[in-house]
Amino acid sequence: MAIEGLQQAREEFEAVLAAAGSDAARIEEVRVRFAGRRSGLLRDLEDHLKTLPRDEKPAYGKALNELKRLVEERLAAAAEAASKAAAGERLDVTLPGRRPPVGSLHPVTLVRREIEEIFLRMGYSVADGPEVEDDWHNFEALNMPPDHPARDAQDTFYIPGGWLLRTHTSPVQIHTMEGQQPPIRVIIPGRVYRRDSDLRHSPMFHQVEGLVVDEGITFGHLKATLEAFVHVLFDPSLEVRFRPSFFPFTEPSAEVDITCVLCLGKGCGMCSGSGWIEILGSGMVDPRVFRACGVDPARYTGFAFGCGLDRVAVLKYRLPDLRMLFGGDERFLRQLGLGVKA
Ligand code: FA5
Ligand code: MG
Repeated sequence: MAIEGLQQAREEFEAVLAAAGSDAARIEEVRVRFAGRRSGLLRDLEDHLKTLPRDEKPAYGKALNELKRLVEERLAAAAEAASKAAAGERLDVTLPGRRPPVGSLHPVTLVRREIEEIFLRMGYSVADGPEVEDDWHNFEALNMPPDHPARDAQDTFYIPGGWLLRTHTSPVQIHTMEGQQPPIRVIIPGRVYRRDSDLRHSPMFHQVEGLVVDEGITFGHLKATLEAFVHVLFDPSLEVRFRPSFFPFTEPSAEVDITCVLCLGKGCGMCSGSGWIEILGSGMVDPRVFRACGVDPARYTGFAFGCGLDRVAVLKYRLPDLRMLFGGDERFLRQLGLGVKA
């Protein structure tokens, strides 16, 4: 009689648990009813054990223990299945939608757009030209005949068939003047290539070329334009210096340096201890360049400049190595805080 009672309890437990399915609340009810510490059925059966005659106790006790283990195991399994099902099904309609990861513009792109905007406001238009050039446009028309020593300063990547990767954006000056008579006021952003690599130099980098040609253009225009440009682009309090220089295609020529923002002029690895960083080369267009393009040097004068975009980005974002810009490391872009999300 007693043992049959256990069998009955087991069948009832199995039926009720099956009926609870994966409903966690109902599984809990089943647990309380059968395994509840104070008033569960197992507890009652244990009490019953105590009342049994001595010779019936061992068999009953063994069967009861088996039943207890079974109830515990089944309850645990049912509870786990229920929580898994709940996790899979849970739908919180008040959650905001998932946003797809959003990228950001590259620092060089941001700087290019900023520079374009500054010059567009000054009445310039934006032009571009080919990255694969011929010798005429990259060198010869810019007053660098084949054996000119200035060619060595721009270690060139040559391509079979007489082509080369442009070493600067200045060949687009030639394209522009070949196709158009003055007045000319253009800026030309683009990629350029040189066999160069260190903290300030990358084999592929970006320049923005500027060209202004009209009657009566003077070095004063050049100086005022570039000073205004640097002050709008950086801070008006930033120091700018014009340093006499030489380019075969301009005369006179000047390079423009600004205070190294990494060390604020104290001298560091980036500025080779000088406290200054060169950001652009400039000068008055050489009459020989005008003649090479069919522009009358007796009537027109002009100025030109070529600014290193990546150098500007390095200074704006305080990068310790210019080549980081081209490493393709997203963590670096994220660290700049330009809006890249994971
Ligand atoms: C030129 O390339 C001339 N075409 C600039 C010019 C244009 C002068 C028009 C006169 C009239 P330069 O080699 O100095 O000049 O380069 C110009 C700028 O490009 C430098 O001031 C520097 O900011 C940047 N630059 C040069 N080489 C590299 C390099 N390897 N990596 C990154 N930036 C560079
Ligand atoms: Mg230079």
